[in-house]
Amino acid sequence: MNNLVNILYIVAFAMFIYGLMGLTGPKTAVRGNWIAAVGMGIAVVATLIEVRDAAAINWILIAAGLGIGVLLGVPPAKRTKMTAMPQLVALFNGVGGGTVALIAWAEFIETDGFSVFHHGEEPTVHIVVGSLFAAIIGSVSFWGSLVAFLKLQELLNKNVEKAFVKNARIFQLTNIVLLVLAVAVSIYIGIEATPGGGTAWWTIVVVLIAAGLMGLFVVFPIGGADMPVVISLLNALTGLSAAAAGLALNNTAMIVAGMIVGASGSILTNLMATAMNRSIPAIVFGSFGGGGAAAAGGPGDEGGTVRSTSAADAAIQMAYASQVIVVPGYGLAVAQAQHAVKDMASILESKGVEVKYAIHPVAGRMPGHMNVLLAEADVEYDAMKEMDDINGEFNRTDVTIVIGANDVTNPAARNDPSSPIHGMPILNVDESRSVIVLKRSMSSGYAGIDNPLFTADRTSMLFGDAKKSVNSVIEELKAL
Ligand code: TAP
Repeated sequence: MNNLVNILYIVAFAMFIYGLMGLTGPKTAVRGNWIAAVGMGIAVVATLIEVRDAAAINWILIAAGLGIGVLLGVPPAKRTKMTAMPQLVALFNGVGGGTVALIAWAEFIETDGFSVFHHGEEPTVHIVVGSLFAAIIGSVSFWGSLVAFLKLQELLNKNVEKAFVKNARIFQLTNIVLLVLAVAVSIYIGIEATPGGGTAWWTIVVVLIAAGLMGLFVVFPIGGADMPVVISLLNALTGLSAAAAGLALNNTAMIVAGMIVGASGSILTNLMATAMNRSIPAIVFGSFGGGGAAAAGGPGDEGGTVRSTSAADAAIQMAYASQVIVVPGYGLAVAQAQHAVKDMASILESKGVEVKYAIHPVAGRMPGHMNVLLAEADVEYDAMKEMDDINGEFNRTDVTIVIGANDVTNPAARNDPSSPIHGMPILNVDESRSVIVLKRSMSSGYAGIDNPLFTADRTSMLFGDAKKSVNSVIEELKAL
């Protein structure tokens, strides 16, 4: 039976890796997700086979756990809108971290403070260190992800958020104290982890609480613009803590799955930080971006001249252009304008205009957000250009149409050293011969800062909901 379990585990791991490879492109992502999910199902079955003879096994509890997990997990996953996907990811990730912390706690209780081991064996380093690592990182990840969820869902009071950003330094110092406390108590637990030794029940509780507070205080002061990187970092931490718990429980599936999540989360974190020209320590300790839309500046403070335009004018400009670049952003997702945009592009193409899409790596609210939306509207993958590939083209482009994008086009990131997003690579939209911006008002974007693009000489604003505006442009294009 042991061989069967090992074979099933190997099949599951192969499916995790193959599934993950599918997630690298929108065409194969859904299939990749299914493959990895089936792999996880196989790993669960293998684990149940492995433990089926254990004296303490309680099938009713296991069935109840699976049932509750399915009942709580499936409805939000099905119902959540694309725009709210990052907060769902944050929540699911947090639940993973919390589970790992609970496993570590259960292991502590079951072994009476790492002193009484099953079958009379000695407490091994991998059980004790693995459990304590899992307790700390899992707890950080759970509470940190919860705050990330509240922030992204805009459930946090803006004044509370501002107070955290303002006092970021105090929280950083507190975090150092909490880290020292969690590690010191863990070392104490580790030293006492001998047969007949062990520590009191509250020692692990101190570790869990100190780590939990650390998770809260790390994420609370982090600004909105850095949230995607933070979620990815928390995801990587959850993976690592699951791998540590796997070591403690001697469960290969948890080790492999945890390492895959940890490694892919770390790579994604690094890629996103690079895309925003931010170092990971600067994000975790820097509190940049000023708490999302609550940051300084506020809407409508640009101070320059705003030029409004009409759908008719936008249509004329684009119809007589040789190249038009579409820059999608979060507003495109809110307005669900992707199908209208595709229709507009088709009409332009039928008039001989070349249409390309410029995709910023953090446009929208999750990695790949714009790619997924545009793919949904059957935009060709070849037409979607990554930032580095398209940035050289703006200065020879007749018209750039910015649809619900803001921060990712902000030239202050390039020109203004005092800007909170200075240094973040942006789409060089302002270099185009003409820029048309579709949004509803002069409100700021996610980073909560003004965008001088909107008052630049070559820019005109087409105010209104993006879908309605694009549809009006389509009507005008048809009439030309
Ligand atoms: P944002 O800077 O957030 O700007 C979106 C703009 O869309 C807003 O200024 C808003 O202006 C407009 N808008 C909203 N609803 C609209 C509608 N129905 N019709 C037309 N316009 C609408 O978006 P972005 O340029 O895509 O930049 C993304 C930002 O989010 C970055 O700061 C990034 O760091 C952050 N972020 C990204 C992620 C990932 S991984 N992509 C995750 C979390 C946060 P009005 O209100 O005036 O319409």
